[in-house]
Amino acid sequence: MINKNNHIVGVDIGSHAIKVCQLHKIGRQFKLISVGSSLIPAGAVEDGVLQEPAEVGKVLENLLRNLKIKNQKIGISISGYSVIVKKINLENMDDNALAEYIKAEAEQYIPFDINDVYVDFQKLPEKKDNTDRCDVMLVAAKKEVVNDYLEMLNDIKLNTVLVDVDGFALENRWETTSEVSENVALIDIGASKMNINIISEGVSVLARDVAVGSEQLTDQLMNSLGLDYIQAENIKIGNIGQDHNREIIQNIFNKTCTQWVLEIKKAIDLYLANNPDKPLKSIVLSGGGAKVKGLIEYLNRETGLDVILFNPFRSMIYDAGKLDKNYVESIASEMAIAAGLAIRTPSF
Ligand SMILES: Nc1ncnc2c1ncn2[C@@H]1O[C@H](COP(=O)(O)OP(=O)(O)OP(=O)(O)O)[C@@H](O)[C@H]1O
Ligand SMILES: [Mg+2]
Repeated sequence: MINKNNHIVGVDIGSHAIKVCQLHKIGRQFKLISVGSSLIPAGAVEDGVLQEPAEVGKVLENLLRNLKIKNQKIGISISGYSVIVKKINLENMDDNALAEYIKAEAEQYIPFDINDVYVDFQKLPEKKDNTDRCDVMLVAAKKEVVNDYLEMLNDIKLNTVLVDVDGFALENRWETTSEVSENVALIDIGASKMNINIISEGVSVLARDVAVGSEQLTDQLMNSLGLDYIQAENIKIGNIGQDHNREIIQNIFNKTCTQWVLEIKKAIDLYLANNPDKPLKSIVLSGGGAKVKGLIEYLNRETGLDVILFNPFRSMIYDAGKLDKNYVESIASEMAIAAGLAIRTPSF
């Protein structure tokens, strides 16, 4: 029998849109049950911080109602300056001792007051050649920011059972789709930030958020061509052509993509400097910004690596009568984080 409650509903609250994904597991395969996204008002979520909880709550309530999702456990993820993810190297110890150590010593690794953050950690697989030491992934998130989300979700009667980190959710989905543990750079380009997560031998070794994203393009199109937001968005995503301004538009795209690619190259160079014997196989792009026309080819030329657009629904089944194939395909790259949350089973 399928236990319909065995997976949480993934809710990815970005600065541009809320994305929702619901999956069921059937045997060893995932079935996509519901998927949808809704725009949120400008400024309602900034730098990963909930600025207008009531507005965002309303949008999420409507979206869940439209998707007919009721009484489900949900999982969200956070990102931005209020979350610190740090890998630390320690003397190897058992789980209890490690928990005690983190409790006592976390402060020295975190640039926040320890009383202001929730701290979590995970021990990474031991290295075969050195079992005296261990790597631990430490996560600290500002209580204030997390609590704002939990309160908003509670206000609309949602049962939140998981608070993850964007980069981990993405990694989670990637790991369940990729065949072997290839070394890859997972890069999510949203509206206002780019999340870079380099996975080497199955472990995240470099994670960072950079304050660039697809909204930059919209802003520049608005400013340079005197357009309103909707017009600029439509030109950006290719819904409307503007032949007479083609050169200006092309320049804006070139300049912005060059900046994005430089940031990606910087992270990859740093990784390679520390891991010269573990080359990357590919760059895996997700997020709405990853769909910028020509970005994949440009990034491929600049880095010499394979660049692919991540489809978190690859190898999933779904009811073609209920979900429109074109819609599912068109929204796939934005849904990577929501899908990464949705494959989790709740721990409580
Ligand atoms: N074809 C396209 N070309 C360029 N940009 C696009 C395209 N399709 C969508 N976008 C942009 O992607 C952004 C939305 O992507 P996404 O949903 O990943 O962002 P978000 O999660 O809300 O933002 P963030 O993670 O930065 O807070 C918007 O800025 C949208 O205009
Ligand atoms: Mg996002």
